[in-house]
Amino acid sequence: MNTDWKATFTATFGAPASAVSAEIWAEVYGDDYPAELDTYSFVTRTDLHRIATEARLEPGGRLADIGCGRGGPGLWVAARTYATLTGVDIAETALASARRRAEAMDVEAAEFHVGSFADTGLDDASFDAVMSVDALLFAPDKQRACAEFARILAPGGRLLVTTWDFDGQPENRPPQVPDHRPLLESAGFEVLSYEETPDWRARQQRTAELSLERVADLAAESGADPAQLRASIELVLRNQELMTRRVLVIARV
Ligand SMILES: C[S@@+](CC[C@H](N)C(=O)[O-])C[C@H]1O[C@@H](n2cnc3c(N)ncnc32)[C@H](O)[C@@H]1O
Repeated sequence: MNTDWKATFTATFGAPASAVSAEIWAEVYGDDYPAELDTYSFVTRTDLHRIATEARLEPGGRLADIGCGRGGPGLWVAARTYATLTGVDIAETALASARRRAEAMDVEAAEFHVGSFADTGLDDASFDAVMSVDALLFAPDKQRACAEFARILAPGGRLLVTTWDFDGQPENRPPQVPDHRPLLESAGFEVLSYEETPDWRARQQRTAELSLERVADLAAESGADPAQLRASIELVLRNQELMTRRVLVIARV
């Protein structure tokens, strides 16, 4: 199967955020789940605090969030650090939602553009920090994505990424890598920290198991075919077995 990720995410973000998924994440992650941000990822408050601290942004600093989805993580970090935010995603429907969120969160210095990991459309050396939350998995060419991160960062700028290393090729996903450090280093980064995020495997496993238990509710909410939805959750479970770690990468260019 060759998924058109732009079409898939455009459809996902064209619908309201799933209340059932939010209940599942809240049950699994407890207070660490940033419910108010409508995230579409496994990001935690712990991750967000770490990203905001390690971005080392001054007030008015320039932050980019690539694969920003509905914008919550980037807006949270921008609000906390008084940075300006540029969000990029392949799905315009996600960006429409991110623009509404920026208004609701009162983050005035935020803009959102369609672009990709391969071609963000952003200027050379124009950011002090670049973040990306649980999205690099979908980049078809991870080396190219690392080169694009390096291109848009100003000298000394910082990269903060959460993503997964894989031992093998997951089904129906773009090519993955066993370790992102060699790619980052060959793109010119110094990797400052490559840390596994707390309890990631058990939490993701529990999230998928609860999704299977509540597949009827999820299907009713989205109008999806329950059998197809079950198959896609089972695929997530199989692919999770190939993940060796969920990492939070901190690097400097
Ligand atoms: C799991 S979601 C994470 C969204 C957001 N970062 C969050 O934490 O809520 C993955 C995101 O990556 C985006 N994406 C997928 N392929 C992409 C690509 N090639 N370039 C940029 N973004 C992409 C999707 O549209 C989606 O918003």
